[in-house]
Amino acid sequence: MRSSENQSPSKEYVWHQLKEHHRAIAKLHMRDLFAQDPARAKKFSTGLNGLLIDFSKHRITDETFDLLISLANATNIREKISALFSGQQVNKTEHRAALHTALRSPDDKLPDTDQKTIPAQVKAELERMYNFVKALHNREHKGSTGKPISKVVNIGIGGSDLGPRLVVDALYDYRSSNIKIAFVANLDTQDLYRVLDDSDPETTLFIVTSKSFSTLETHANARLAKQWLIDNGCHEIHRHFIAVSSNKSAIQEFGISADRLFQIWDWVGGRYSVWSAVGLAIAVYTDNNSFADFLAGAHAMDEHFYNAPAENNIPIILAMLDVWYNNFFNAETHAVIPYDHGLQLLPAYLSQLIMESNGKGVSSEGQALELHSSPVFWGAAGTNAQHAFFQLLHQGTRLVPVDFLIAMQSSRDDKHHKVVANCFAQSKALMLGQENNTEPCKHFPGNRPSTTITYPKLSPKILGMLLAMYEHRTYVQAMIWDINPFDQWGVELGKKLATEIISDLEQKPPIESKHDASTSLLIEQYFKNKT
Ligand code: F6P
Repeated sequence: MRSSENQSPSKEYVWHQLKEHHRAIAKLHMRDLFAQDPARAKKFSTGLNGLLIDFSKHRITDETFDLLISLANATNIREKISALFSGQQVNKTEHRAALHTALRSPDDKLPDTDQKTIPAQVKAELERMYNFVKALHNREHKGSTGKPISKVVNIGIGGSDLGPRLVVDALYDYRSSNIKIAFVANLDTQDLYRVLDDSDPETTLFIVTSKSFSTLETHANARLAKQWLIDNGCHEIHRHFIAVSSNKSAIQEFGISADRLFQIWDWVGGRYSVWSAVGLAIAVYTDNNSFADFLAGAHAMDEHFYNAPAENNIPIILAMLDVWYNNFFNAETHAVIPYDHGLQLLPAYLSQLIMESNGKGVSSEGQALELHSSPVFWGAAGTNAQHAFFQLLHQGTRLVPVDFLIAMQSSRDDKHHKVVANCFAQSKALMLGQENNTEPCKHFPGNRPSTTITYPKLSPKILGMLLAMYEHRTYVQAMIWDINPFDQWGVELGKKLATEIISDLEQKPPIESKHDASTSLLIEQYFKNKT
């Protein structure tokens, strides 16, 4: 057990053991580890409901694995999981729970407590959402001129965009309605106008998705969308808007009535919100059953995370491997390479999930961290990525652990084995390498770690499991580093300064400069070039 709560993991005895152990095994080559132990792949792989997680291509021995699991246990990981699921205020700086698990739970109370209010609220809102989707699919929702809605545009950013955008893209094979879906996020109006140029105002419905409804980008885009409707003769604009938010009064002020608002709650973090009405676009694009399956998949992963002992627990194992490379091998980045075009947006989604959660510099008690927190998570879809940055993965000077994700089946492609083979070949090449003593440029050092995650096909259930797996992995990382993964104060300063600079740029030059010399120069340049 961790000797005292809220202290750096480096104070744990097992941390010192890991340091010593790292020194002893850092030079071992995985090639040799595989040669010495024919059972290695079986031993270092696990599964759940069709998922296979092969973590045998990591620079670990039996002892490494045991020490990493001991570190997880020393962090009181079971208690921390219970705190998350039971609705304790795990988000200490904002005094909030983080109950994304309740959004996908069929149970009528939260685990480890008798709390029933939240499950009841979740069910009621989900029911409203499903009724709305049914009516939309039945062409009962009509625009200002009486024509049925045939296009839905989600306006939102960050967690109010990346999750539904990823899932809609991923579930292309499950599209079931004739309703077209588009997403608008960026403050740069090119994003909005590209969508509007391709839309018919009479039949377009906007979902304004913003937990706070105080986000600059979403406000600006929603206002422009409203103007576009009016300019195009759609005056009953309330027929063209619905909202997903926790800020009822701001939504009403914008002109969206309470009956067209789907609620989210302060205990749902933006980047953990795809399971709530923030995922409405997903149900519209597929159907209510697919959305329910997506939730069920996530719930299956929740149950596994909640119940499985640390040594068999997928999110815990993956998080401990992250800690191993981040804090012992000093890896600075981690690549995510889905060999599944449906998951092409996964790296962007994970960038927010993991880096906004764990890119922190202070502990949960506000002390400066002694250890590094989150590495940079990045990536792109294979096989495209092979022809872009794989050079660095194979021969670069930096160690970059990789997650490969691959479906075993394809709905359309009878040559899918070629995609599968490429994925398997890359992890094999990274692990084995290839000696070349005569031509150094053709030498592959190997010993580069990766996890391969396979699944039968990218169904709503599998996708739910995968995203929940990454959420929980993020949580475990945070618990090891003793940080709060549920706040994001680091985004605030830039927002505040942007507000000040916006007001400067709205003035007539010359303006009295109150900025540093570089910012003043840039502002001057703006005015010189402004048309
Ligand atoms: O600025 C960061 C952030 O607050 C994210 O955490 C969030 O997902 C995004 O902005 C959008 O916030 P909202 O849903 O409140 O518009």
